[in-house]
Amino acid sequence: MNAVRLQKVIADAGVASRRKAEELICQGRVTVNGKVVMEMGLKVDPASDHVKVDGRHLKPAAPKAYVMLNKPKGVLTTLEGPGADDRQTVQSLLKGIKQRVFPVGRLDYDTEGLLVLTNDGELAQRLLHPRYHVPKTYLVKVKGVLDEAQIRRLEKGVRLSDGMTGRAHAKKIRKTDENSWIELTIFEGRTHQVKRMLEAVGHPVLKLKRVRFGPLTLGALPSGEYRFLTDPEIHRLKDAAAGGEKLAS
Ligand code: URA
Repeated sequence: MNAVRLQKVIADAGVASRRKAEELICQGRVTVNGKVVMEMGLKVDPASDHVKVDGRHLKPAAPKAYVMLNKPKGVLTTLEGPGADDRQTVQSLLKGIKQRVFPVGRLDYDTEGLLVLTNDGELAQRLLHPRYHVPKTYLVKVKGVLDEAQIRRLEKGVRLSDGMTGRAHAKKIRKTDENSWIELTIFEGRTHQVKRMLEAVGHPVLKLKRVRFGPLTLGALPSGEYRFLTDPEIHRLKDAAAGGEKLAS
């Protein structure tokens, strides 16, 4: 028997998040083989036990999908839309994916690069949780040229309106006549974090591209295209989000 916790079976069927599934159980809205179950942590076999929520059978769990998209700039990281302002969304770039996948975090409208999308809600939550410190690497074109002291400030932490940033890695890549490129790796994911960090050291961002997310690299994936992750990539991603404990597959 493939024993799985009841709340996970409900969450995997796409009815509710795990926490919401626990509430449904407590509220007596879940039956297993015709009997109301209010016990948390009961294990069932999704293949043979009949689980119902509010009297309705669960649909079989959607197969998990893990996708990497090279988001172009000028595209919104949302699945709705195009919105009232007619701006293109990543949804329009995901044609051909049968499952409904969700972005893991977001890239700004004018940021390009690596965006992971999945219907594995548990993995997505963990990848975004500050506790796991998943590294994200950006190529950043900034106004002017940073000096060594500014690079060190980025690495040690700069004060933003929502507090000091954590450690980071920063490296100068090249300079043009007036501007320059750096590579910045951060281990947090605050809103507009890279732009705000560079603004704080006096070098506003002109272009921003994410090239790494945890163990994944963007590689040569053309702008606007997606590909499914390979099995080894999925394993490495799960390891990055496991923090020592393994995720149930
Ligand atoms: N930091 C930003 O400022 N913008 C992004 O899109 C991602 C990271």
